[in-house]
Amino acid sequence: MLKWVGGKRQLLPHLRRFYPQDFGRYIEPFFGSGAVFFDLHSAGRLLDRDVVLIDSNADLIGCYEAVRDSPERVAEALDELAAAHARDGHRHYYRVRDRQFNPLREGLRSATGRIAYTPDLAAMLIYLNRTGFNGLFRVNARGDFNVPAGRYDRPTIVDRPKLFRVAHALAGKRVRLECGSFEIARTLAEAEDFLYVDPPYAPLSVTSSFTSYTAPRFAAADQRRLQAMIIELARRRCHVLLSNSTADEIAALYDADREVRDAGLRALRVPARRAVNSNSARRGHVEEYLITNIAGS
Ligand SMILES: C[S@@+](CC[C@H](N)C(=O)[O-])C[C@H]1O[C@@H](n2cnc3c(N)ncnc32)[C@H](O)[C@@H]1O
Repeated sequence: MLKWVGGKRQLLPHLRRFYPQDFGRYIEPFFGSGAVFFDLHSAGRLLDRDVVLIDSNADLIGCYEAVRDSPERVAEALDELAAAHARDGHRHYYRVRDRQFNPLREGLRSATGRIAYTPDLAAMLIYLNRTGFNGLFRVNARGDFNVPAGRYDRPTIVDRPKLFRVAHALAGKRVRLECGSFEIARTLAEAEDFLYVDPPYAPLSVTSSFTSYTAPRFAAADQRRLQAMIIELARRRCHVLLSNSTADEIAALYDADREVRDAGLRALRVPARRAVNSNSARRGHVEEYLITNIAGS
């Protein structure tokens, strides 16, 4: 439904090897476009389980809430946006972005930073995401969404079956969406819970540190706080699966750390195709870390 930087669809074959046979709740503290949640859901692995999906991006969570609650109205609004885009292309993109989406979004933002997405606003976000440059989500200093139009001949704007599948998966009685910090997971997780943890990746080099996640970027101090949480969760006997880049900073935190090892975690390198690189020549085959205490298959 949304293209999200760091989406993990291509990594699923590796990740699936570590889905635990049995587990308590499913908790995903960096939800994004939720590749693992939707994979587990479509495999029927989340039936009769509590699920908590957390992301600090208020637009992402607001949009999912509106899709969950009113998929038909979102789909209708998207049909209209797609028809107008087919007529007017980029001009329509900028009109929606600057005269409709940003003002409406500002008006729906609460003091806490939450944004009470309406079906119309959700449709606009999906439209801007599907037709904007590289599916980025970026805001300027004033907090306005400022991604330029993308260059797509015929972008897929409305995918009704997918929209309804997303709505159905999120509408489960035991599925909860939370807007906030990954550390919510620390307060919730108990023994046997399964957590897939997919933070913004540490940059492999200075040039790749360009970031398109919600500002401020996930810094070295955040990676360290996350490492402490992962150790704590492993000690609680949660099933933990974390992905990250093979940056030196991450190797130091997980591959060469005694506390990590003593908590029963190990760091494995898997091949992955990375689509996130501001320099397209550097895209290609790289390795990523999977850090886990789950016996893989
Ligand atoms: C690598 S993406 C997750 C991608 C996801 N696994 C998928 O398949 O699309 C990281 C996500 O973490 C969110 N994020 C960034 N900082 C965060 C924080 N401190 N707490 C919670 N979520 C955060 C971003 O908004 C982004 O959606």
